[in-house]
Amino acid sequence: MATPEDVRARMGGREVRRIVYTAEMIRDRIAQIGREITEAYPYDEDVLVLGLLKGSFIFVADLVRQIRRPLHVDFLMAASYGAGTVTSGHVRLVHCPETDLAGRHVILVEDIIDSGTTLNKVVPLLRERGPKSLELCALLHKRIAASLVLDARWVGFDAPREFLVGYGLDHGEDYRHLPFIASL
Ligand code: IMP
Ligand code: MG
Repeated sequence: MATPEDVRARMGGREVRRIVYTAEMIRDRIAQIGREITEAYPYDEDVLVLGLLKGSFIFVADLVRQIRRPLHVDFLMAASYGAGTVTSGHVRLVHCPETDLAGRHVILVEDIIDSGTTLNKVVPLLRERGPKSLELCALLHKRIAASLVLDARWVGFDAPREFLVGYGLDHGEDYRHLPFIASL
């Protein structure tokens, strides 16, 4: 468990409201999801784990090590653009996966599903590439999205409706490196 001194050192002195998910909780949950994904696909078919950057980078790294079957890993990055910091609804792929999706079982990995805007734009773009199947795995799900073109088959935790940081999640690019998830 992270001691208060440890938390303060990592956060540059900023206080967290509370630690919502400890490193141990995250590790145990990912081990379970890894077992489920291992059993979900025929062993002789191609599986591609596709992480949505940047937020999923730690989750993907830990998740794939809990999946006991052959697979490939790639990443894509989506960016919202438009005025202001509020999600404009316009999303484009900044880094398109170079991997061919056609005929593969694709597992899109997200850090957190909030409004669902990002996913609702990215999923159709991926479907155009003809994957054999497309499933979604999210570490956190706030369960506030009005409609999702594809809901998550695997969810780590139903998250509180608070602003969370750590384990890949940022606030102005800070705090991605925390081994736990905290509410600011
Ligand atoms: P959505 O498009 O509203 O579902 O938001 C998706 C993206 O917003 C996530 O992939 C995160 O990068 C970011 N995001 C949403 N909620 C949080 C949060 O509580 N903490 C940090 N980032 C968040
Ligand atoms: Mg962010």
